[in-house]
Amino acid sequence: MTPLLAHLIHRIATEGPIGVDTYMGEALGHPELGYYMSGDPLGRSGDFVTAPEVSQMFGELVGLWCALAWTQMGSPARVNLVELGPGRGTLMADALRAVAGVDGFLAALDVHLVETSPSLTRRQRRNLSTVGCPISWHASLADLPPGPLLVIANEFLDALPIQQFVRTATGWAERRIGAADGLLIWVEVPCVAGPSIPAPAGGIVEVSPIREAAVAEVAGRIAKTGGAALFIDYGHAASAAGDTLQAVKEHRYHDVLADPGDADVTSHVDFAAVARAARGAGAQAHGTVSQGAFLRALGIEARARILARGKSPREAGEVLGGMNRLIGEREMGELFKVLAITRNGDPTPEGFGG
Ligand SMILES: C[S@@+](CC[C@H](N)C(=O)[O-])C[C@H]1O[C@@H](n2cnc3c(N)ncnc32)[C@H](O)[C@@H]1O
Repeated sequence: MTPLLAHLIHRIATEGPIGVDTYMGEALGHPELGYYMSGDPLGRSGDFVTAPEVSQMFGELVGLWCALAWTQMGSPARVNLVELGPGRGTLMADALRAVAGVDGFLAALDVHLVETSPSLTRRQRRNLSTVGCPISWHASLADLPPGPLLVIANEFLDALPIQQFVRTATGWAERRIGAADGLLIWVEVPCVAGPSIPAPAGGIVEVSPIREAAVAEVAGRIAKTGGAALFIDYGHAASAAGDTLQAVKEHRYHDVLADPGDADVTSHVDFAAVARAARGAGAQAHGTVSQGAFLRALGIEARARILARGKSPREAGEVLGGMNRLIGEREMGELFKVLAITRNGDPTPEGFGG
């Protein structure tokens, strides 16, 4: 039994069944026992591999996108470049290296990393120690300083807690987590108000007020002081019923309730809900486009050819293999979606058909 499982069983014994949102919040973010609070889950030796860890091209092209967005903003003298959930800091390191040649961009940047994990913060400090622009760390979006923002977030929204509802024969019930015989179990608690997404009998609908609030906060800031945001994640373009809650451990799917604190617990992002939250906060949402289409539009194929030039066949194969993993339809290219946010009336950002 993981220490967090013992804690949750005790909590459920005192409070009754907990919502999926509370479970995710504890499983990932419990101050001592949460999944992200110690160690490094990323990479081959960890539990999963993210796009920046697959290939340097991902961070380079995201950096280029930020530089283009800054130019579209009129190249302001100061801009806050913000990353939400920066993992090892690989995306930011690749992005900043790639934009070193963009006249005036690096000099305009104040970099802000929003991160809750002490161990990943330490790793980010090491990886970003030589980038040459000021970096500050924050535990929450609310702590960001005022001013125009360029926001990037890869595989951040999927980690924010969701609630699940089940359509029963008599109405909606919330899917909650109880405990029996030292194990966590699913229970259904009837509720008066359910979600607005339709579902067939027995169907599950997911909503994430926390995710939508995070996006609305970014969008509200952009609507007020200018800037652009890029959210990249696995998910669906239209809201629909379906159970997408998943746990991953050592690169395999894992029972969601089996090892809280020892496995990553996430859900697919409902990008239609995210876009609605952005518009509701007074900003413009662009997309979604697939990750494959986005990276192609930014020139990943040309960049891969340059990186592979003069390399050994094995190294060139690694470059092309990385590209295929990022854009291949059966790899990350279709499942991962990209959504941008800008101020109303601003031009369509690069990669979104503008
Ligand atoms: C799946 S990792 C993605 C890391 C990185 N973006 C990448 O692509 O490699 C999720 C990241 O979000 C952070 N995180 C999770 N929940 C968070 C929260 N509520 N606030 C800030 N960071 C959070 C984790 O510590 C981790 O850095």
